[in-house]
Amino acid sequence: MSYRVVVADSVDVSALTAITGDPRFEIVVATGSELRPALRDAAALIVRSETKVDDALLQEAPHLRVVARAGVGLDNIDVEAATLRGVGVFNAPDANTLAAAEMTVALILALVRKVAAADRALREGRWDRGAFKGVELSGRTLGLVGAGRIGKEVAARCRAFGMTVLACDPYLEQCEGIELCSLEKALAEADIVSVHVPLNDETRHLLDANRIAMMRRGSYLVNVSRGGVVDEAALVEALESGHLAGAALDVYENEPPPLSSPLFQAPNLVLTPHLGASTAEAQVRVASEVAESIRNALIDGDLKAAVNAPRRA
Ligand code: MLT
Repeated sequence: MSYRVVVADSVDVSALTAITGDPRFEIVVATGSELRPALRDAAALIVRSETKVDDALLQEAPHLRVVARAGVGLDNIDVEAATLRGVGVFNAPDANTLAAAEMTVALILALVRKVAAADRALREGRWDRGAFKGVELSGRTLGLVGAGRIGKEVAARCRAFGMTVLACDPYLEQCEGIELCSLEKALAEADIVSVHVPLNDETRHLLDANRIAMMRRGSYLVNVSRGGVVDEAALVEALESGHLAGAALDVYENEPPPLSSPLFQAPNLVLTPHLGASTAEAQVRVASEVAESIRNALIDGDLKAAVNAPRRA
């Protein structure tokens, strides 16, 4: 008998080295309508952010013992439902850190130097050097909303550009090279605000119309964390009114955002399709980390790295 491991989202299967080639595991890639039937005999399920692992999906998988998130965010997994069904939930908390931090810096630079808009204009036949004057990062202030693993790496890179870093993070007492402060101060003083928090009841629409209004006129907002932390309607309004000079989003309230979304018409907005973790290196790291967790859980019964303490109801 082998353990069936179902891979539901785009994961680097060749990097699941702890379980590939081991006859005790059968790896099945199953997306869309193939997923539910494949889950019937599954012992483990690997997802990224696309597949919503809710109680209804778990119900389709009576033999499931592990859900592994190839990434850090757990907002697409109903951890409580998994716990009650005796399913261990694992993630790869650190594997994407550098990829997400580098993506954030890429978007900050793209924003302040208008890279995406200039590229579009040139492809449309406009050689317009005057329209795309940017600003420099040196001497400016970065305001981090959340200074965990990713926020700290963003801070280190932005300090190398000569920026001062302010951060609001209720879980930190001190942090070298970062001035910790209230959210209000970070918003009011930063030239660029970058968000690095998980999505939960406390952070949903943390950056709403009121908080965006607290940001300096002419400042920029970047979100590579989770959609839903920034109120998209409020952001569009702030861009249209000119209160914000620009923004960049990698994550959305609904992924993908519908084509009718006002985001697509908003000025000075750079949009990317949830690419924070999408580097070759990060994808190898997340896959190999979750494969290790699955092996440990199914073969050795080792659930130490799980984010929950599964129990049967
Ligand atoms: C994460 O939570 O690490 C990322 O969102 C993973 C992904 O790209 O799916």
